[in-house]
Amino acid sequence: MFAELERSFPAQPAVIANSEYRARQQRLFSQLRADDLLIICANPVSTRSNDVHFTYRNHSDMLYLCGWFDPESIMMARQVKGEWKLTLFVQSSDILSEIWEGRRPGVDGALKQWPIDEALPIDDAEEIIEIALQDASRVQMRQGLNPSIDNLVIESINRRDRARQHFGKGPVSLSDPSSLIAELRLRKSKSEINQMRYSAQVSSQAHIQAMKHGKAGIGEWAIEAILECVFKYGATSGSAYPCIVGCGDNATILHYTVNDCPCEAGDILLIDAGSEYRGYAADITRSWPISGKFTEQQAELYQIVLDAQLAAIDQCRVGNPYNAPHEAARESLAQGLIDLGVITQTLSEALDPNNGQLKNWYMHNTGHWIGLDVHDVGIYKPDGKPRLFEEGMVITVEPGLYFGAWRTDVDCPARYADIGIRIEDDVLITSGDPDVLSSDCPKSIADIESIVGTA
Ligand code: GLY
Ligand code: MN
Ligand code: MN
Repeated sequence: MFAELERSFPAQPAVIANSEYRARQQRLFSQLRADDLLIICANPVSTRSNDVHFTYRNHSDMLYLCGWFDPESIMMARQVKGEWKLTLFVQSSDILSEIWEGRRPGVDGALKQWPIDEALPIDDAEEIIEIALQDASRVQMRQGLNPSIDNLVIESINRRDRARQHFGKGPVSLSDPSSLIAELRLRKSKSEINQMRYSAQVSSQAHIQAMKHGKAGIGEWAIEAILECVFKYGATSGSAYPCIVGCGDNATILHYTVNDCPCEAGDILLIDAGSEYRGYAADITRSWPISGKFTEQQAELYQIVLDAQLAAIDQCRVGNPYNAPHEAARESLAQGLIDLGVITQTLSEALDPNNGQLKNWYMHNTGHWIGLDVHDVGIYKPDGKPRLFEEGMVITVEPGLYFGAWRTDVDCPARYADIGIRIEDDVLITSGDPDVLSSDCPKSIADIESIVGTA
């Protein structure tokens, strides 16, 4: 497997340039007021037990604005003599901590290599932010990430109510910049797309290896191990979200992540798994017969989902509303199930959100923005109206059908009992045709049948 992977992995893309981070910062600053104080806090470190921590992942806004991945950090920006100045508070170099936990760039390393104007020790953050607060009238900060900084800012606003009365200085309001940053993150640059394409290519190779190793009796956990092995072997940081590896009726549980059952002959295995590369997520689902050949009834459902997915992908075009893929997928799925006799209503009745039969078998949306977060930021309906696709947006397209015979809320047709199928790709909106970042991952019935069990 490893020699084959070496041949199949693409070259890693160039890292995102500091000049691009500077441009992102400037786009945000240009929407702020001159007397705003911007504070971006790192994600907190989370304890697993004693001195063992959960794997650290910094907040995506921090990654987006300055590419800083390490914990215990705060980004602060404010205008000084008419120019925006960006300060990053970081962990100081400390030989004892570094022996135990790993090397740190420290203040000097941060200033030398990151797109910032000033680096200071995190231990000085509260004191320096307190001084900066005195000259700000509005604080732009998302609360809830760093309780000490939250308190400092809120106390400062309360205290300076009086100071402002007397001296006209001091913060009077707190605002959350998340929605401004989300608007920027929603449209991906060329270099972001390069990271995302790489992540999707490695993830596709992981799905291909899973298919090749598919056979009756293999454990869902073993398939998960193959996926995670390929993610890491491809130099990504691992899974962007917990792998879903569900065989048989487990495939009808949308976010099944226990992955502890053996795969039984004849069943469909649903895998929803994607890697994270330099912070950027991939999100791919494939569903295939563990024994290598679709049964007639599995193939019937699979082809309906695939046709729906292709119809939905075709809607991923500049100017279309973001929900056009969802509506196309719903219509295609409903018509397919009417043709099979599973849905006994007319097409328009089947699509009714309250009484339509489609929602019995297809109960989720067809996609979500993807980027630094797998379920990425960006308002779907600004001003209450569906957002229109623009070049550079990336959305998943992931219709499915789920016939859980174990469910008590509906009567599952016996012919399709315990079949769950989802097909998911990551689609870039371009000025032309949709660009499927995960297109290396096979999905036609013929391609899948030719690959499963060939390892
Ligand atoms: N992997 C979760 C999702 O597809 O949204
Ligand atoms: Mn998804
Ligand atoms: Mn997914």
